[in-house]
Amino acid sequence: MRADLSLQQSPPFSVPARFLVSAPLFGLTAALVLLWHGPGMVSHRWTPEILAVTHFLTLGFLAMSMLGAMMQLTPVLMGVVNLRPVLFSTVIHAPLFLGTACLGLAWLMQVNQLFIIAMVLLGFSFTVFIVVTTERLLRSKSRHVSRSMMLLALLALLITASLGIYLVMGYTGQTLPLARHLADLHLSWGLMGWVLLLIMAVAYQVIPMFQITDEYPAMHQRWMGWSVFSAILGLSLTYIWPLETLKTLSAILLAGCLLTFALTTLWVLHKRRRQLVDVTLNFWRLAMISLAFLTLTWAISAILNLNVPVLLLGVLMIHGFAMTTVNGMMYKIIPFIIWLHLSARNKNLRDRGERSSQVKVPHLRKIIPEAAGLWQFRFHLASLLLLAVATIWPKWFYYPAALSFVIAQAALLFNLSNAVRFYNAKIAMLSIGKAGSDPV
Ligand code: HEM
Repeated sequence: MRADLSLQQSPPFSVPARFLVSAPLFGLTAALVLLWHGPGMVSHRWTPEILAVTHFLTLGFLAMSMLGAMMQLTPVLMGVVNLRPVLFSTVIHAPLFLGTACLGLAWLMQVNQLFIIAMVLLGFSFTVFIVVTTERLLRSKSRHVSRSMMLLALLALLITASLGIYLVMGYTGQTLPLARHLADLHLSWGLMGWVLLLIMAVAYQVIPMFQITDEYPAMHQRWMGWSVFSAILGLSLTYIWPLETLKTLSAILLAGCLLTFALTTLWVLHKRRRQLVDVTLNFWRLAMISLAFLTLTWAISAILNLNVPVLLLGVLMIHGFAMTTVNGMMYKIIPFIIWLHLSARNKNLRDRGERSSQVKVPHLRKIIPEAAGLWQFRFHLASLLLLAVATIWPKWFYYPAALSFVIAQAALLFNLSNAVRFYNAKIAMLSIGKAGSDPV
């Protein structure tokens, strides 16, 4: 069922923009921590530096941009409006930003009090977001499959954040010991539940819309979300009842879902009607190839009982699939909402008979120049390949990997900040009625 867009419900530009621009800031911080601390920090998965970098990426980059994208997409795709969008986004963004910074710094500086501050700020931000957005989605009249998948993703985020807060209590130096045996459950709900389900929910709408493709097969859309959720639930139940069969069947179901989604998306993109290749297409393709490679590596290592570096699976899932998808979406969402808001302003001026006060609105592909996006994609691809091999041969590839990651995130931050600067300049021109002298 093709998406009905309610563009007039789009929230003010600053609502999603503050989240989307904060994300590469945390991405760059994570890359600089990698560069500064050197290969020693990847000696095993529990070094405080690796845990800090993991959460600068999963909270600071992924959760940050996904919450921002949901603030833009739920009104437009689901027709649900937040009454005070600017206030709501501030109440979510500020504690998420500070909470993530505190959690990372707590690990890097080993200061227990910072864990407590992070726990409170992150707990508050996620609770308010999950409660308000769930209520809005339940009220939505849309019956597109993305609605139920967004609700499942929010439930997975609730479980992830609750487990994360319980885990972090083990670091606060209070009574509770660190429940490290729950860390895999936490990351499964975080990466396979919250991140994967939300990316699927968004892909079903934005790939046909922006890449002019056919819809995903109806069966796929109807069953994928519930299958992924049931697989993770099955894996979680083995923490209570350690049944090997349940674990194997749940893992096979999950692997099947990952591979089906990756290959179906590559096929839908291959059959697209729009022949023009844009940078977002490259990011979608790379993300799906990473997801397929991750699934095959995980499956083969499980079947043949091979020892695959756990950080390799982390790099393929967090950087290769999730960050790549989000990076590509940023190059669609930001130019689109800039074009949307400036066009709406121009229309208001025309309606008021003030044609001469309009500003020129360039084509979507010009707001963030294609070449700038393509260069950033090349550094992102290089950093993914180098980070992946650095988990196997850190001696040779660690520093080239960290450096290319720094450049890729710095370039993304530069491209997005430039687009925001462009928008603010246009708005300033409109507000002082100097549109006549608009050079662009
Ligand atoms: C409220 C937010 C969160 C808090 C307080 C939190 C806290 C933690 C803690 C304390 C650990 C275990 C560290 C250990 O065992 O020493 C952990 C591990 C982990 N968390 Fe989170 N987390 C949060 C959200 C997330 C989210 C949203 C994701 C993913 C989307 C995520 C991904 C991970 C991963 C991948 C690990 C395992 C790291 C490793 O194995 O090296 N976390 N988290």
